[in-house]
Amino acid sequence: MDGRTWLYRGRTLGVVRIDGEFAELAFDREGESVNKLDTLAMDELRAATAAIAAIAAQGALRGLLVTSAKPVFIVGADIGEFGAMFRLSVDAMAAQIADSNAVFTAFEDLALPTVAAINGYALGGGLEFALSAALRVMSDEAQVGVPEVKLGIFPGFGGTVRLPRVAGAAVALEWVTGGRSYKPALALAAGVVDEVVAAPALRDAALALLRRAAAGEIDWHARQQRKREPIGVEPQAPYETTLAALEAKRHLHQGAAATALALMRRGAALNRADALVAEHRAFAEVARTQAASSLVQTFMSEQQLRKLNKQRAAAARTVRHGAVVGAGVMGTGIAQVSALAGVAVRLTDVDGGRVDRAFTALGEQLARQVQRGRLKPERAAAARAAVTPQIDHAGFDAIDFAVEAVVERLDVKREVLAAVERDAGGDAVLASNTSSFRIDDLAQALQRPQNLVGLHFFNPVPAMALVEVVRGRRSSDAAVATAVGYANAIGKTPVVVADVPGFLVNRVLTPYMRAFLQLVEEGVDYAAIDRAMEAFGWPLGPAALQDLAGIDVGAAACDEISAGYAERMPPLPRNALRLLADAGRLGRKSGGGFYRYPGGAQAQREPADEARALLAAIQPAGAHATLDDAAIVERLMLPLIIEAVRALDEGVVANACELDLALLLGLGFPAYLGGALKYADWLGAAEVVCRADALAHLGPAYRATDGLRERARAGTRFYAS
Ligand SMILES: NC(=O)c1ccc[n+]([C@@H]2O[C@H](COP(=O)([O-])OP(=O)(O)OC[C@H]3O[C@@H](n4cnc5c(N)ncnc54)[C@H](O)[C@@H]3O)[C@@H](O)[C@H]2O)c1
Repeated sequence: MDGRTWLYRGRTLGVVRIDGEFAELAFDREGESVNKLDTLAMDELRAATAAIAAIAAQGALRGLLVTSAKPVFIVGADIGEFGAMFRLSVDAMAAQIADSNAVFTAFEDLALPTVAAINGYALGGGLEFALSAALRVMSDEAQVGVPEVKLGIFPGFGGTVRLPRVAGAAVALEWVTGGRSYKPALALAAGVVDEVVAAPALRDAALALLRRAAAGEIDWHARQQRKREPIGVEPQAPYETTLAALEAKRHLHQGAAATALALMRRGAALNRADALVAEHRAFAEVARTQAASSLVQTFMSEQQLRKLNKQRAAAARTVRHGAVVGAGVMGTGIAQVSALAGVAVRLTDVDGGRVDRAFTALGEQLARQVQRGRLKPERAAAARAAVTPQIDHAGFDAIDFAVEAVVERLDVKREVLAAVERDAGGDAVLASNTSSFRIDDLAQALQRPQNLVGLHFFNPVPAMALVEVVRGRRSSDAAVATAVGYANAIGKTPVVVADVPGFLVNRVLTPYMRAFLQLVEEGVDYAAIDRAMEAFGWPLGPAALQDLAGIDVGAAACDEISAGYAERMPPLPRNALRLLADAGRLGRKSGGGFYRYPGGAQAQREPADEARALLAAIQPAGAHATLDDAAIVERLMLPLIIEAVRALDEGVVANACELDLALLLGLGFPAYLGGALKYADWLGAAEVVCRADALAHLGPAYRATDGLRERARAGTRFYAS
């Protein structure tokens, strides 16, 4: 019909004859912007490979070119299909994977030379497929890699077998255990691709290479044969070094990289068939781990939230001119990320010295990023030029958006917001970065309360992805849309939350912190608690976290948020945070809190005798209570899970994905747990209720909610898979 001779035509790929004696297999998924390897694509690839093999057997084909008609080659497997697959038993999953792998093996065993022309991205299964071709040419604009470890798994389409045979063990170990994407120069140097060419020349160059292979100028048989045989004896040093590096990173509870390493080490002595069988089985085992389940869910949640936030921002006003009032720690960071996103920012403070210092600090921060190669000098200069330091509200009549980040005092904030409202235009959206006041309380000072929202950033602003967008009772849809659009534009991940004490993240954290304080009061050593929580996967235990955030800040936040939920978070008469704060032990900023920091670095913390001596005053039963790690973890995690369920059921956030992402991004919640609700799913609601019932005597924070009991009774989950 279109003049081409189709050897196979499907909905994800087609094969046409080119130049008489060659064929081109082009991936071109119907109705989508990218190619991926889902069940349909694999079925079609199987059929296309069989069709090509049949024609090749008649001696009617001399070579096969593999291309993509999309801007990307293949982005990888279809992660949306993982949920159902990962629920299979290890045996059933290994069998299913073996079936898919047979497609790549059949492709590799075609009796003709094959060349993959890689454009855009070839990631995960996309690169693994390209590795089954005899040769690879890559566009100078493309990127390749096997990012599976980021999902708690490793390449399962023969990647652990082919990559070491193509590029050597050292490269394969780095690529598989690191999960990075590589630019063309590195991919070429690593030997993963054979040629790199300018993007427009890609197809021609790949075809030329194919012709040379077909003409016998390149020994493509040997290249394919090498992938079928054992690697044999090889140096062990790369394995040892990579293993040591993995252990140093303390990738607790995420065993995929180490498993892949062991697999490749064993696989070196095996032929392709046996090495693939080992890979299928190991993959199925790792896919059944909690880490894989959580990390895959997190990936999908991120995609879902990105889409949702785009919709939420549909009616957003584009922010070109912004203002940040309060040039402290937070204000400086907010000005910086805004300016980097192209927003012109007026940065102001009641204290002129603060504005000057903030502007200098901002310039230094940008310069550091340039030095580290993370930012182009022109962008840094443009960002600096976009910030206007000032001590008044000059030019406020032209702003679209203002962020208030002044001291945490209700009277000051009200006064500042009212002044900004007076000086800004009628439709400017005002956002408060308050961490403890209600947006409704702040809105009382305004003529146009509908224009006010909360915009709760996390410290340090440039590094922390999360922003809570707080919808007050009177916040308009338009103001929320603009705040979400603004957060999207400055590269943050906004989560829309209700105007409740602590909003979402700090509200859910508070029962955890209170549980910690309760344990300290019972006489459990804080360093033992930190060790248990860090072994469980938290980057910092609760005591070390408070030292970092500031004990005084933590004490105030805990009191303030607890007061909002007095029925289950009554005042703590013996509060370690309050005690240390009153004694001037404010954490790292004052030289010490729970710990001392002899070298100034977090890694060198040491439990402080002075802190222990102070704490004795609030430990009526002494300081020698012991609990095993599991019991400590239970005591802290249960109230957190229960509060998260409450927040979801009260509608503080729209859905479970958003809640869990907020905890992962805002708190450093252990990634392998996937968030409080994903963790609850892993345990099962019935188990959570059972554990809560066993600890209910500790107080209302441990009592399972009706919503949780209902889920336990009905066997429902927070996530579909
Ligand atoms: N630091 C954090 O970890 C963190 C995290 C989230 C939210 N917050 C919130 O961000 C806000 C700012 O916190 P920060 O840590 O940057 O404090 P900060 O003390 O570093 O800065 C506050 C700034 O506000 C200025 N200021 C005071 N009164 C003012 C007025 N009337 N007009 C203009 N400026 C005025 C001060 O001069 C100071 O420069 C607070 O509401 C805080 O609760 C802080």
